[in-house]
Amino acid sequence: MTTTDFHLTGAYAPVHDELTASDLPVTGALPPELTGWYLRNGPNPRTESQHWFTGDGMVHGVRLEGGRAAWYRNRWVRTESFGDDDATLYNTDGSRNLRTSVANTHVVNHAGRTLALVESSLPYEITTELDTVGAYDFGGELADSMTAHPKICPTTGELHFFGYGSITAPHVSYYRADASGKLAVRQPIDVPGLTMMHDFALTASHAVFYDLPVVFDRASVGQGMPYRWDAGYGARLGVLRRDDPAGGVRWFDVEPCYVFHTLNAHDTADGRIVVTVVRYDHLWWEGHGPARGVLWRWTLDPATGRVTEERLDDRPAEFPRIDDRFAGSDVRFGHVTQSGKDGEQSFLRRHDLHTGTSEEHVFAPGHVPGEAVFVPAEGGDGWLLTYVYDAAEDRSDLVVFDAGNVTGAPVATVHLPQRVPAGFHGNWLPDA
Ligand SMILES: [Fe+2]
Repeated sequence: MTTTDFHLTGAYAPVHDELTASDLPVTGALPPELTGWYLRNGPNPRTESQHWFTGDGMVHGVRLEGGRAAWYRNRWVRTESFGDDDATLYNTDGSRNLRTSVANTHVVNHAGRTLALVESSLPYEITTELDTVGAYDFGGELADSMTAHPKICPTTGELHFFGYGSITAPHVSYYRADASGKLAVRQPIDVPGLTMMHDFALTASHAVFYDLPVVFDRASVGQGMPYRWDAGYGARLGVLRRDDPAGGVRWFDVEPCYVFHTLNAHDTADGRIVVTVVRYDHLWWEGHGPARGVLWRWTLDPATGRVTEERLDDRPAEFPRIDDRFAGSDVRFGHVTQSGKDGEQSFLRRHDLHTGTSEEHVFAPGHVPGEAVFVPAEGGDGWLLTYVYDAAEDRSDLVVFDAGNVTGAPVATVHLPQRVPAGFHGNWLPDA
């Protein structure tokens, strides 16, 4: 076993069956208002994969309805390259094949379409019953990859995203679709190299791009992820005005680091931009051990051109989520998980970003959560939904917490008919 093979064993091991189960057993009481679909994507290699990030995407979904767990389904995203062991991301002329996809990272819903996403390809549309519809290119308008972390502006309903990875310039481009899903803005973002850009940030007035020193390494192609730390690359944040996307990007230097995920970002009354992320000191740096991600705040000051950097917490964290109704504004609460490996304890943590305090749910030993999605509650706070793996039983549950009382016991636990492998991101899709 190599160091990258962890993704084929234990909590990460793929499942082989696509199941449909109805009327699932529930412990506790599911809030009846939770009526919709919880969909979460993740890698589930059909045969083999070189890296956790490269396995074929499989979506695990649970339909909740009026206080009962109506069904569970898991389905591979059947992309045009699914099952084709000869499919490649690049054509022989060096151009990308944007329909070759593992579609394994996220599921989002915009303008009536549910999209399974991976950052190296076009989106793939799926149904809420998890059948694959096909590659989606915005009616022929998108000829680029699409990040797995697009942002929906809660005020305008627009979908903001970027594509990256083209060998030829522009290596990064920003896109915006209007609330109806029509692609309305396309703007190149000038970066000096083939940086791995997993996420970005959106405020009410700005988009912020992360030009960080993990860059494409041609020599690593075929050896897992073909990206390596480049100590000479530098690290910058690029700010684009939403009201003037053609006006160009203003760049701000930061300390070298890597960021997979944004918690949130907002504008301040005095014109600064606050970006809260999970930050790693470095990533995939040969000769350096793994770094751990911690909550971090960048405050960009256009008046001085400088960035103030603050570590908000010492504890490892990932999968940051907020109440998406307040995305881009000065949201109070942020939620992260700390998934223990090799028998370490796991946590679901709620940070009060206004007071600097936090509360956490401590999971029983061997119980490992994934990303926790926030769902607003009627007339109250909200719910946090996550799949939790039980190592001793080798099975998984969908667990629902009261977001206002994360230290307490879950309000409901839906017992699933099979293990859900450790995965990435998802969303709650309420009935319209
Ligand atoms: Fe991600």
